[in-house]
Amino acid sequence: MKKFISQETIQKIKSTCNIRDIIAEYVQLTKRGTNWVGLCPFHGDKDPSFSVNEEKGFFYCFGCNKTGNVIKFLMEIDGITFQEAIKKLALRFGIPIDSYQYAQTSGAHDEKTELININRLSMEFYRENFLRSSIAQEYVKKRGLTNPVLNEFSIGFAPDGWNNLMNYLHSKGISYEKAEKSGLLIKNEKDHFYDRFRNRLIFPIFNHNGDASGFGGRTFGDDKPKYLNSSETPVYKKGSMLYGFFQNKEAVRKRGLGFVVEGYMDLLALNQHGIKPVVATLGTAMTLNHVQHLRGLCKDWVLVFDGDEAGEKAAVRSIPLFYSLDMRVKVFSLPEEHDPDTFIQQFGREEWENQIKTIPTGIDYLIERGNRLNGLDPDGKTKTIADLMPVIDQISDSVRKSLVVSSISQKMGIKEKTLWKKVVDRDKDKNTLVSAKKDIDFKKKFKDQSELMLIAFILKNGELIRDFQDSGIDMWLKDDDLKDLWHEMDVFYCQNGICIPLDLLFQRFPKEFIDIILEKIPIYTNEQEKSNILDELVKFSKYRKDKALRGLIVEQLRCSADKNCDITGLLKNYKGLL
Ligand code: UTP
Ligand code: MN
Repeated sequence: MKKFISQETIQKIKSTCNIRDIIAEYVQLTKRGTNWVGLCPFHGDKDPSFSVNEEKGFFYCFGCNKTGNVIKFLMEIDGITFQEAIKKLALRFGIPIDSYQYAQTSGAHDEKTELININRLSMEFYRENFLRSSIAQEYVKKRGLTNPVLNEFSIGFAPDGWNNLMNYLHSKGISYEKAEKSGLLIKNEKDHFYDRFRNRLIFPIFNHNGDASGFGGRTFGDDKPKYLNSSETPVYKKGSMLYGFFQNKEAVRKRGLGFVVEGYMDLLALNQHGIKPVVATLGTAMTLNHVQHLRGLCKDWVLVFDGDEAGEKAAVRSIPLFYSLDMRVKVFSLPEEHDPDTFIQQFGREEWENQIKTIPTGIDYLIERGNRLNGLDPDGKTKTIADLMPVIDQISDSVRKSLVVSSISQKMGIKEKTLWKKVVDRDKDKNTLVSAKKDIDFKKKFKDQSELMLIAFILKNGELIRDFQDSGIDMWLKDDDLKDLWHEMDVFYCQNGICIPLDLLFQRFPKEFIDIILEKIPIYTNEQEKSNILDELVKFSKYRKDKALRGLIVEQLRCSADKNCDITGLLKNYKGLL
């Protein structure tokens, strides 16, 4: 069973280690007032945009907006997990690690740990069989994959037969019922169990911590379905998982650009050809949740879907998601008979990179596709523009919106003013709708107690923790109790991939405090209201973050004045925050 590092140990490590000392091992830092600055290690930085605040224990980069505490720094720079970062620090400062098994405290978590454990055993089983199986070895060879990639992705093989995995798991003390819950065994009408994956190549799907949480399996022949996936379980949610995310995230960060493909084999083939920053959706449509995960890595993404109608449709559906999160997206349309796998095998990496230089942005792609499908007569163009409207609606940055409108009107040959009017009219409709729905009481409370509401809302919607981890809460939360609570949520999430359960919170904080938080959870009755609340909270957190950053800059400017150093970069950053 997996062990977790206790909160006490983590607190001790956090209070013992000095963030500047740690970061100084990677970045040359010079003092500016109470802050330290240097060249950002996470992006190609020319002016020093990277600040470290020793006293408050956080870092922030004005270039790539990366922020966090010392643990986050190590996770990012070394590409390690939360647990590994903690262990590294503990070792260095001679702090004994006292770990615990979380199992005693929560049923829900207990189940997840068990599932992960079953998946790990199964992965080992598939892996061993793969190494021994000549069918599997021949197959991957035929598809051009070699050991480094096969090993990194722990490619496995489910042997033919109905009970191989079942017997193996049983021999490891796992009951059939438990194994069925993992989705790897199936129960028939006669209550007999059998293996889900038989005679298939196996692709383990890792979660963000590097645990196998589900599997995909491909036939070697023509039997249907070609790919089979694990059923959804508490640890395997298709709408939020991406194949290869765990293995390739650092490569995406490093390049500042990532590719999204549709298939396991597409991703592996690209990796095999040295194109590493890739993730794959798992045979499902992209969701906002997927894109939120992508945003955590970088803002620039290229959709590379198959050259057929289904691939095009998938691109069309995904594009608005990127605009809605203020990211940049381009579309690489492959020739009709190709997918990324066959393309890279036939044309190679150089051609791939060449083509990437000239591919259209999401909106230009929609224009080109609209023109192609609807034609260029007035009716056709009207339809294309109508199809573009929902995408324009998604753009929240006013400068970007204006540039996009201007570019569309030029390309479609209509007056910019006319298009603007249409956009603004739609905005008006939308806004009256939103403000009519907003609860007046909520507004009042929000003004006074936004920090409290933010934390309460995240507590209620645990899946948001990940998004807010990058919003610099460490940097601007004023209330110390809330900050402690946030840290517990953050740490627990990093270790367990779920929000901290209430029973644990009640053990760790005074009951009155937790009660106040629970009272402050904003009330909503449908998804739209929930997303309105979230929008407000995101705005609030951005406002606070910008304010904190302006403080940081002013402080640095003050000390730069007498030292005669170049402050153009600082001023530019400051302006960017106004
Ligand atoms: P494709 O049918 O495009 O397969 O499905 P592929 O990736 O090119 O696979 P190869 O090259 O024939 O081996 C793309 C993705 O859709 C999902 C899988 O995730 C697959 O990688 N899929 C496809 C399924 O889940 N089930 C299927 O039956 C087919
Ligand atoms: Mn293929």
